[in-house]
Amino acid sequence: MDAKSQTELPGVPPPPRVRRARWSTIAVGVSFLALLHFFVSPSVRSIYRLHGPPLDTSAPVCPQANPVAPEKNGALWNELIAFHATSEFITRAVGQLSAAVQIPTETFDEMDPVGEDERWVTRAPFIEHLAAAFPLLNASLELQRVNTYGLIYIWQGSDTSLKPLLLMSHYDVVPVAPSSADQWTHPAYSGYFDGENIWGRGSWDDKSGVISKLVTIEALLEKNFVPTRTVVLSFGFDEEAGGAHGARFLAPALLERFGPDSFAMIVDEGGGFVEQFGGIFALPGVAEKGAANVNIEIQTPGGHSSIPPEYTSIGMLAALIVHFENNAPVPSLEVDTPVFEMLQCFAVHAPDVPSVLKRAVLRARRSRTALKLAEAMLLEIPAVKAVVSTTQAVDVINGGVKSNALPEQAMAVVNHRIATQSSVNTTLTRDAGLFKEIAARFNLSVTAFGELLTPAAAAGASYGSLSLRAPETLEPSPISPSDTPPFHLFAGTIRATFHAARKDVKGGEKEIFIAPGVMPGNGDTRFYWDLSPHIYRYGHDNLIGIGEESGGIHSVDEHIHVGAFMEMITFFTTLILNADEAML
Ligand SMILES: *[C@@H]1O[C@H](CO)[C@@H](O)[C@H](O)[C@H]1NC(C)=O
Ligand SMILES: *[C@@H]1O[C@H](CO)[C@@H](O)[C@H](O)[C@H]1NC(C)=O
Ligand SMILES: *[C@@H]1O[C@H](CO)[C@@H](O)[C@H](O)[C@H]1NC(C)=O
Ligand SMILES: [Zn+2]
Repeated sequence: MDAKSQTELPGVPPPPRVRRARWSTIAVGVSFLALLHFFVSPSVRSIYRLHGPPLDTSAPVCPQANPVAPEKNGALWNELIAFHATSEFITRAVGQLSAAVQIPTETFDEMDPVGEDERWVTRAPFIEHLAAAFPLLNASLELQRVNTYGLIYIWQGSDTSLKPLLLMSHYDVVPVAPSSADQWTHPAYSGYFDGENIWGRGSWDDKSGVISKLVTIEALLEKNFVPTRTVVLSFGFDEEAGGAHGARFLAPALLERFGPDSFAMIVDEGGGFVEQFGGIFALPGVAEKGAANVNIEIQTPGGHSSIPPEYTSIGMLAALIVHFENNAPVPSLEVDTPVFEMLQCFAVHAPDVPSVLKRAVLRARRSRTALKLAEAMLLEIPAVKAVVSTTQAVDVINGGVKSNALPEQAMAVVNHRIATQSSVNTTLTRDAGLFKEIAARFNLSVTAFGELLTPAAAAGASYGSLSLRAPETLEPSPISPSDTPPFHLFAGTIRATFHAARKDVKGGEKEIFIAPGVMPGNGDTRFYWDLSPHIYRYGHDNLIGIGEESGGIHSVDEHIHVGAFMEMITFFTTLILNADEAML
């Protein structure tokens, strides 16, 4: 969340993969300082003085849904908001999160299947704990267990013709490195509450998601609420390693039971609030970038190193990588992408957005000059650059076995994050082209993704071979549309919650705007695309505007502020009640 939590500490292994890169990093990144030199640069000023086309005023830019509060369930909603504010309720909710944090449920990379790998059994006490800790929920909902530890809770609604609401979370956590255990202010699995924050691994990511939903439903049951629309919870248990044993089984189980396109909307963890040019924005992720790992392998004849060739496989690989990095994809801002829509929202709703940027963004759809100007300003910000374009990073390299033997093999792994407007095919095709160019120089035959790119005759007569394989790929997700009734209901729920939960606090008069976000990493929803076109990756879980923040995701001192956690409960309460009475 904050800069501190992004810093890697000595002895702490890097997180298993880049994920949940909080959007607030953009808030930090987008600063007047970052943009300043553009405004003072004469070339920019002169470009900008050129007469651009008039602003397109035919369609409203980034229209905002009105706050949506329950009506039919309005009295109950008000009663629950008041209940959530009592110290009795807060103590209970905090106790529930603290207890959940105290049961470690660590996920390691490359775990063997459930039943074979001993390390999964840490999930059993967690599930037993939930059954006892939420007695009304236990008695009223149905629990379907999938692949032993995956949890689907079904709260049956009275009207089965309505598509259910699906709320997702994961209850596993990233491991606490033994070497970092003593760096925690409060022990990592203490669940310690100091009156302000709940501390410990999972307190935020994502046991706060699991427990806030369960606390919400337990309270609704206490008030004898009977849902009209079915509510389904789906909790994965290995999201931190990619969901191969949890979400990958949960999604087909949901498909089998409910069918394709069967949910009104799906909400999972994801982007939160950012403060941008003086405006507060909620950024539900409407899309996720794709991903691809490309293995590059060079094979050449072996031999004694006393009679070396001019280039060994290692030298060739080095040349290949240099060429590859010198030809990285050029990031560019494209209209009609979610990132572009997000920037438009900043431009029209943030009070302090510089007018040169505002005008450039608003004209970008119709003027290439304006688009390029907006792009130049915004690409200065690493976090924006990372989501607008496909990225590449050479992350692994290997080769050679002995100091006096020529290396017969050298290999590297490139990790790509694929822009929402691109595809796995485009990305791999581009790689193949780049590598083929340089392989010819070293007399290497090229096999790219199962296809021999060099003529068969030449291949037989080449010095060695280059092979590219992509064992793991993921297309960019479909983009959840933001001009639909589910999105308006979702956005209106965020706004109503924001206002209701902050009535009495500083920041209560502030406004919140909703803009579509893009997740740079991937969560469990990667397996859920067939269940609904309306997937929002969102955590109503920080206190921007009030001056308190949570932090420490995937690092030491993970904690969540009690106010943020309580506001999550109000958010899910509002969402369930709103969805219950809406036409979706
Ligand atoms: C309720 O608890 C029992 C006993 O632990 C368990 O078998 C059942 O699955 C639980 N049901 C729910 C909905 O949690
Ligand atoms: C990309 O798509 C084209 C056309 O369908 C296909 O011929 C090619 O093999 C694909 N390339 C990769 C790397 O998947
Ligand atoms: C490529 O290597 C093969 C095998 O060493 C050799 O026969 C061939 O002449 C080489 N081709 C070129 C263009 O150097
Ligand atoms: Zn998470």
